[in-house]
Amino acid sequence: MHNTQWEKWQKEMELWLDKALPEADVPQKSVFTAMRYSLLGGGKRIRPMLVLEFCRLCGGQPEAAVPFACAVEMIHTYSLIHDDLPCMDNADLRRGRPSNHKVFGEAAALLAGDGLLTAAFETMLSEDALRLAGADRAARAAGILARAAGAYGMVGGQVLDLAAEGQKASLEYLQQMDSRKTGALIVACAQMGCAIAGADDEKMEAAGRYAAALGLAFQIQDDILDVTSTAEELGKTVGGDVQNEKSTYVSLLGLQKARQQVQALTQKAKDALAVFGEQADTLCDLADSLACRAK
Ligand code: IPE
Ligand code: IPE
Ligand code: MG
Ligand code: MG
Ligand code: MG
Repeated sequence: MHNTQWEKWQKEMELWLDKALPEADVPQKSVFTAMRYSLLGGGKRIRPMLVLEFCRLCGGQPEAAVPFACAVEMIHTYSLIHDDLPCMDNADLRRGRPSNHKVFGEAAALLAGDGLLTAAFETMLSEDALRLAGADRAARAAGILARAAGAYGMVGGQVLDLAAEGQKASLEYLQQMDSRKTGALIVACAQMGCAIAGADDEKMEAAGRYAAALGLAFQIQDDILDVTSTAEELGKTVGGDVQNEKSTYVSLLGLQKARQQVQALTQKAKDALAVFGEQADTLCDLADSLACRAK
């Protein structure tokens, strides 16, 4: 992994997230403890990286994009906490540690997720965020994330995921499902970065095409790792997809064809970067790194 820009953003994100969601000395401080448990440490921070990098690429100040990068990581983390609950994927391990509900209990995990979802909007609409990005751009970015996280996007994809358990879903269904449950947030990241920088429609559209292909490739690779990797390496429960009779690209096409899909989508993502020129090298490398990632 020679993507040093990514490593730099990863380190900074840990500090920014810690600041964006501090411990609170309030009677209900246990919910902050549970929220921080899942948010801090362990994640790859790919989504924040996309927000920051697209903002930079479109000529914006990455500092102005930081609250939005934090917000998307909060929403992503909430989705993981809820995804791991017994009523969903029933997974005990996440980001190298016991899942949130294993430590705090199911009700507290549910509320920690709710708290993170709401904190994301608080963060994007904070005085700092509005001042740094400008109210119009901040509102546009927040709107993009709201739409992508909800029932048209990530939540909708999770609904399709659960509905397909025990079924043999078609390729078209899987594409719809994965584009929503994973692709939607990733597309939102790229477009939020563009929105904060005030990018034109052409760049916005190209960013969306890159991220849609990247997001789909990312979920297929996730499905591959669920059958080929170990809990130790991944830091999360493996084998759950087979156990829960999930419909995935791997269950439908087999490993080899799933791998070919990852390669083809990665190429598609990289092709979409043409309009950005050489400056897009980091995002090009990111797509390649993710296609052969081991965690
Ligand atoms: C896991 O996302 C859930 C999927 C959408 C596949 P990541 O693989 O980005 O998880 P973290 O953030 O690194 O833990
Ligand atoms: C989850 O997909 C996508 C989300 C919206 C959380 P998975 O259920 O495959 O994610 P992991 O493998 O548990 O991280
Ligand atoms: Mg799931
Ligand atoms: Mg899961
Ligand atoms: Mg998975």
